[in-house]
Amino acid sequence: MSKVAKLELDSKVYEFPIVVGSEDEHSLDISTLRSKTGYITLDEGYGNTGSCLSNITFIDGEKGILRYRGIPIEELAEKSTFVETAYLIIYGKLPNSQEIKDFSSLLTKNEMLHEDMKFHFEGFPTHAHPMAILSSMINAAGCFLPEVLNPDEVFLTQAARLLSQVRTIAAFSYRKSLGLPIIYPKPIYKYTANFLHMMFSEPYEDYELQPEVVNALDLIFLLHADHEQNCSTSTVRMVASSQANLFASAAAGVCALWGPLHGGANQAVLEMLEDIHKSGDNGSRFIEAAKDKTSGKRLMGFGHRIYKNYDPRARIIKKKCDELLAVLKRKDPLLDIAKRLEEGALSDPYFIDRKLYPNVDFYSGIIMRAIGIPLSMYTVMFAIGRMPGWIANFKEIHDAKDSRIYRPRQVYTGRTLTHYTPFRERV
Ligand code: CMC
Repeated sequence: MSKVAKLELDSKVYEFPIVVGSEDEHSLDISTLRSKTGYITLDEGYGNTGSCLSNITFIDGEKGILRYRGIPIEELAEKSTFVETAYLIIYGKLPNSQEIKDFSSLLTKNEMLHEDMKFHFEGFPTHAHPMAILSSMINAAGCFLPEVLNPDEVFLTQAARLLSQVRTIAAFSYRKSLGLPIIYPKPIYKYTANFLHMMFSEPYEDYELQPEVVNALDLIFLLHADHEQNCSTSTVRMVASSQANLFASAAAGVCALWGPLHGGANQAVLEMLEDIHKSGDNGSRFIEAAKDKTSGKRLMGFGHRIYKNYDPRARIIKKKCDELLAVLKRKDPLLDIAKRLEEGALSDPYFIDRKLYPNVDFYSGIIMRAIGIPLSMYTVMFAIGRMPGWIANFKEIHDAKDSRIYRPRQVYTGRTLTHYTPFRERV
């Protein structure tokens, strides 16, 4: 018999089922709480709320474990590619050789934007943030492919279009922001190489693709590919739950990702490191400021709602930073500052007591800087990487037979009944 939890409220005892996940995570199913008791739960920031059952990604924040479809992130980082991992996340299994071939061809077939979409880029001011452009253009891409607005369309095609075109849109918006001619994708290139080509080639000269650079960016995409119910993925699910289409749901995800407490942290980390570098601080002054709640500063790239241990993605990225800079024969003073900050924070009681460790954003910017990706595009890289996770979460909502619209409740704390007063009676 399944276990139940007993709750005593107003001298009555109610029973609620305990739901246990495949990794032995325990939860209380309170879906009948209000109808049985008249009460709702209050959990601002959703720190204790499981919003869904999901079989995509597992995180054990206490132990620093992250797995996509059961496979540890460390194994995927070492052995897989972004496209193969995207397949795994979206379809729930590693592809065989024919499946990966078909999936890659589908991505290639769908890499071009509708030619008229180029005019949309013209409408943005040159200083527009690429995340604003990305979100608008993903939504616009849905309008140019009216058949994808039908949720019953072959899902594989929709997913491939989104996954493939997000990188074309990202590269076009970068070129546009610099007033440079647009570079079209080349079918001979694989996913990440093609993106770098669209970013950095010129009509008269192709960008020289270095395998280490391509691999480093591919790894960044792979490490960002999913992260269960974070702010942007929850947003995608929220929008999808109203039966909005995949492109609209993903566009909303981009907006949620943009903020500095979420995906925007990678840009904020680099800005922080640059400021520290310019000020001549060895990092200790900044750490003191980050501990002072009145300073308005936080150690960006540190801390996580779920991880109370080292974020496994940060460990992989840190190692890749050292490897890439060595291959490129480059030294980056910002990497030294980052390492000093990490060392200082991890031996400081403030950070130890609160279990604040480097997260995925702490070192990723150093790699992107070494590759030549401009600061304003960092969060766009996160968005490209996160696309498989958003697609898979959209699919879970779409495929669920008993899916309901997401609609949380609130505890109202405003005025009680008040009547309209005419102007002359108002003070
Ligand atoms: N620097 C200084 N203090 C911090 C930091 C930080 N980076 N992060 C958390 N704290 C403190 C916070 O002030 C609070 O202290 P107290 O208990 O004294 O009030 C305590 O640690 C708990 O923090 P919280 O804000 O309640 O934690 P949260 O789970 O609501 O927020 C977070 C998580 C990631 C938003 C937060 O740690 C943060 O702002 N970090 C910096 C921004 C960042 O790196 N974001 C990227 C997150 S990882 C990628 C992603 O998912 O997007």
